[in-house]
Amino acid sequence: MEDDGLTRLNGEIHERLDEALLEIMERLTELDIAAAHTRWGAVRESLLAHRACEDGGVHQRYAELGERPRGAAPELFLTDHVTLERLAGVCEEVIVALGSPSSPLRRQVVLALPHFYRLRNLLEHHTLREQRFFYPALDEHLSDEERAGFIEELAATAL
Ligand SMILES: [Fe+2]
Ligand SMILES: [Fe+2]
Repeated sequence: MEDDGLTRLNGEIHERLDEALLEIMERLTELDIAAAHTRWGAVRESLLAHRACEDGGVHQRYAELGERPRGAAPELFLTDHVTLERLAGVCEEVIVALGSPSSPLRRQVVLALPHFYRLRNLLEHHTLREQRFFYPALDEHLSDEERAGFIEELAATAL
């Protein structure tokens, strides 16, 4: 039977990130900025680690697989990561600014939430791309040993 270990693990990691983003937004709606900030720190760290892992050996191995279907060209995954990092940078700035609000906090939170939805939407789009193309191709073509090595690397990036 085909081993879908990488696809499954990546799906779980992305699911946890998505859940954590929702929790952050819940804390924000409670105006608990400190709790939102703490949770955000963990999300940011996991996102950065996950990206570093995927942009490294995993991506190189994917690129080596050769011709890919439309919507699955290797550079598209890197582009998604750049955009995700840009949106995460905005969320970081926003959450830091909420720590010392210059106007009524509730209004600022309302204005801040769309940035987190944007990040969440892009993550969802990127998750689909990875779950449909990137990891199934790797699961299919890698040797058991290579797959196990990447699974270990990837697991270390989980939230
Ligand atoms: Fe991923
Ligand atoms: Fe990714």
